[in-house]
Amino acid sequence: MTTSLTDAATPSIGIHDLALATSHHSLDLESLADHHGIDPAKFTVGIGQHVMSVLAADEDIVTMAADATARIIARNGTDGIRTLLFATESGIDQSKSAGVYVHSLVGLPPTVRVVELKQACYSATAALQFAVGLIARDPSQKVLVVASDVARYDLGSSGESTQGAAAAAMLVQANPALLAVENPAGVYTEDVMDFWRPNYRSTALVDGKGSIKAYLNAIGGAWQDYADQGGEPFESFASICYHQPFTKMATKAHRHLAVLNGQNPTPVEVAAYLEDTMRYNRLIGNSYTASVYVALASLLDHADDLTGARVGLASYGSGSVAEFFGGVVQPGYRDHLRREEHTAMIDTRVPLDHTAYEVLHKTTLPEDGREYRTTAERAGSFRFVGLNEHRRLYERG
Ligand code: HMG
Repeated sequence: MTTSLTDAATPSIGIHDLALATSHHSLDLESLADHHGIDPAKFTVGIGQHVMSVLAADEDIVTMAADATARIIARNGTDGIRTLLFATESGIDQSKSAGVYVHSLVGLPPTVRVVELKQACYSATAALQFAVGLIARDPSQKVLVVASDVARYDLGSSGESTQGAAAAAMLVQANPALLAVENPAGVYTEDVMDFWRPNYRSTALVDGKGSIKAYLNAIGGAWQDYADQGGEPFESFASICYHQPFTKMATKAHRHLAVLNGQNPTPVEVAAYLEDTMRYNRLIGNSYTASVYVALASLLDHADDLTGARVGLASYGSGSVAEFFGGVVQPGYRDHLRREEHTAMIDTRVPLDHTAYEVLHKTTLPEDGREYRTTAERAGSFRFVGLNEHRRLYERG
């Protein structure tokens, strides 16, 4: 039996505000297909991706995260924020949390705990659930959950077309304006080598076909656990936001869950059911931990009125951990959306030609501690300006 936190003595808890950020540049996948002599339909139809975000030399997970978080703070202030959870698998330091740089760049007070979480594309969902737990203990507290990632594969590899970059910052609190998170959540963990990135590599290693099977198996397991714990029926979800390494993956996952629930939707029905969750992701590409929350922003920004509707969140991180849970869209949520901001952010990226994209992809940072300055390209408020004595340097505009 689902516990709507609104029915309990505690107030509802969930996402009060959700802001996205992405890169300065983009690459049209038709130009990538052209470069490799591939039919562009393989990308636009076969995997359902049209454009991918590409970081400028002066961007990284911190600058994207700071952009998204600063906009949350500009609207909501910092009162009550006691925790910042930074979810990423594109870590810039083995010791210091990327969240501490963001904490400083956006001007949060010292009375905020900051920590980084990692489990491939899943960790933002863990962070959201941990945030709900902290707020259940003290409903006066608010938590910033910030997911920021850069999906990078080798040039010429089959994963290259599924790169991308984005950050999603969420303010989690009691009596949220957007989405009240429901109990229970279904979880599934299994040790598989479908996708991984050893510390010495800047690009991921992946068993492409195996990763699709692992994703479907884990999402199925998380759904089964959700059902076993008394979750709501499959038919009660107005929409489901799936992790989207590429948008076609969401359609595969939805069909898989539909079949597990005794349904047999046509491809056209699946595509129509998921369309509003896929609009941003097909133009941004994979954003790893942020991806499922990019899908949520896309749904809320584009769907007809969802007030009172139940939305599913289906999170998957290779390796692997999956989680399925529901949330109820709150009355008045449309007054709290950021559709114009998100659309402008995507539309104003500067397109790269293939040569410029390859130069950026091949750029590496010095590892010997010498002073290094990045090229100033970025339009956003925060820049990664370089390195000095092994320290990363940032500035806010
Ligand atoms: P591939 O093997 O080069 O592509 O790479 P393919 O030959 O399988 O073709 C892809 C689809 O395009 C197929 O459709 C083809 O039929 C179709 P499907 O059979 O799958 O429905 N196709 C065409 N359609 C129309 N016109 C054409 C045409 N040609 C082919 N002319 C692959 C695909 C996804 C494997 C590759 O991009 C890859 O390895 N990507 C990275 C791994 C990945 O994204 N895995 C997803 C699941 S794991 C996950 O989501 C976790 C992750 O986000 C990481 C994390 O958790 O941290 C990745």
